[in-house]
Amino acid sequence: MTAADVIACCRDLAACSEEPGMTTRRFLTAPMRHVHARLTGLMEAVGMEVHVDAAGNLRGLYPATRADAWRFIIGSHLDTVRQAGAFDGVLGVVLGVALVGRLGGRRLPVAIEVIGFSEEEGVRFGIPFIGSRALAGTLDAAVLEHRDDDGCSIREAIVAYGLDPAALNQAIMEHRTGGYLEFHIEQGPVLDTLQLPLGVVTAIVGQSRFLVTFVGEANHAGTTPMTSRRDALAGAAEWIARVEHEARRIPELVATVGRVDVLPGAANVIPGECRATLDLRHRVNSARKASARLLTDAARQIGIERGLTVYVEPQLDQDAVHMDSSLRTRLEAAVLRCGYPVHIMTSGAGHDAMVLANELSTAMLFLRTPRGVSHHPDETVREEDVEAELKVGGALLDDLEQASS
Ligand code: GLV
Ligand code: MN
Ligand code: MN
Repeated sequence: MTAADVIACCRDLAACSEEPGMTTRRFLTAPMRHVHARLTGLMEAVGMEVHVDAAGNLRGLYPATRADAWRFIIGSHLDTVRQAGAFDGVLGVVLGVALVGRLGGRRLPVAIEVIGFSEEEGVRFGIPFIGSRALAGTLDAAVLEHRDDDGCSIREAIVAYGLDPAALNQAIMEHRTGGYLEFHIEQGPVLDTLQLPLGVVTAIVGQSRFLVTFVGEANHAGTTPMTSRRDALAGAAEWIARVEHEARRIPELVATVGRVDVLPGAANVIPGECRATLDLRHRVNSARKASARLLTDAARQIGIERGLTVYVEPQLDQDAVHMDSSLRTRLEAAVLRCGYPVHIMTSGAGHDAMVLANELSTAMLFLRTPRGVSHHPDETVREEDVEAELKVGGALLDDLEQASS
């Protein structure tokens, strides 16, 4: 596959969507089957053995020259946010397949497993990293009971996809797995501003997510005096403004309320309940945790002042992680060998690499995101940058081959 083929493939897969004319592909929804079918075809065509594990991860194994060889994973995610672009996640998977294809059938002394993770964004269940957590063996049974907006649990979604939740243990990575590489668009403006094609990631900032529910009392919008209302949405609105205020005040903190659901949701009914998501990120774990306390306490305080009951449900508490220094050094050397400048950077976005970095040597190679636009249909990539990723990925595989011979 050329870089142009990789881009065309990603654009093609972007049509596998829950929404016509947009790319929305949540965990184990019907369009994921189409993505699995198309990528399975591509993987098999380059000599990979393919299966979907019990967490819905698409896994293609390119066997090594020896049965006892160690394994190197190249992966990223196949799910998307709502109304996404065509490259976040899926590009890293297609690049993995393209790299194996470029081996032209030549086996290495290391097995290569290309993985399309089923769930990274957390859109359907509010729980991110379901796919990579299954690989890491950290997907506990309680998580499986989380329900989506339609009342379907993760466990039920797995069964509905034709998979067996009892087999989740078999999704855990093979014990001889020695490394993980993720290619990903930067999703920010840094490389574009510096006019650089590639970035080697040193660390990924930590993130916390909460579901904060304000419960008041629904009542008639025309007859209830302003002084005797318990308006859940008005309380949430005050809190959201506070979240923005604090995030502007605390250096390096980013905090987002990205979704608000209002019940019962009618123009002439005072909102009785409002559920709001909170996503906050900071490079320093202690600063993130302190900000989480501050902002969730602020919600409770606003609840007390307004006569609302406030429930705070933690959904993610993921510390910042560092990439493995020896694999990162190999990656930097590969970048240089291919004639590109090495730019090292931290990632503000979360990635499956965050979960896997706790289990094995992990590295990430970013490519420039024009105008820094991501999580948006206008997200795009440059062909020459995709070619740069392919070249560097090939050079890294050459290096691993020599080191394992
Ligand atoms: C994933 O895209 C995230 O950073 O939330
Ligand atoms: Mn994303
Ligand atoms: Mn992503």
